[in-house]
Amino acid sequence: MNDEGMYFNSAKTNDIKNIIEIMRDGYHKCWDKKFFLNLIENKNSILYILKDKKNTVGFVAGIISDADCDIIMMIIDNKSRQKGFGSLLLSSTLCLLKGMGITNIHLEVAVNNTRAIDLYEKNGFKRINTRESYYKYNETMIDAALYQMVNTKN
Ligand SMILES: CC(C)(COP(=O)(O)OP(=O)(O)OC[C@H]1O[C@@H](n2cnc3c(N)ncnc32)[C@H](O)[C@@H]1OP(=O)(O)O)[C@@H](O)C(=O)NCCC(=O)NCCS
Repeated sequence: MNDEGMYFNSAKTNDIKNIIEIMRDGYHKCWDKKFFLNLIENKNSILYILKDKKNTVGFVAGIISDADCDIIMMIIDNKSRQKGFGSLLLSSTLCLLKGMGITNIHLEVAVNNTRAIDLYEKNGFKRINTRESYYKYNETMIDAALYQMVNTKN
């Protein structure tokens, strides 16, 4: 996929270094190399990157089961946020999943993560449940909002 010089591709082993840097700098926790390798190698998972001509600007990871996908992470590099890349990454992912026959998409997001929640709601995700005290940030427990979308748009 190419949207004004942007590329949405499945991640390769040699992308993992950049992916880890993005997650380490832009999120409160970071998975290790082995975890990302499993996402690349496992048939039931996806790991896709969004790139410009030079750099990886973000990635999305998901676990697939039949017609369902659980998006387990979506992140844009700190310095590339607020430029529409998150929206592009999400819409590209929805398009990819639809092409794979996956119509039921879930994710969990901390209730105070308003940037991500705005993005998901703008793209048709509906809040279906809350998991209390699901995340721990430093010593503070935060609820998770569970979102779902049925991805049948053309
Ligand atoms: C959530 C996240 C992926 C959003 O990425 P992003 O690239 O900043 O998202 P976008 O730029 O597409 O949209 C965010 C805002 O930028 C605005 N925007 C879009 N294009 C823009 C542009 N060209 N110039 C200025 N602002 C723009 C959007 O309107 C939106 O604003 P709004 O929320 O006030 O409506 C990013 O904040 C992130 O990586 N967060 C950390 C990881 C995380 O929490 N992930 C979700 C949990 S799994």
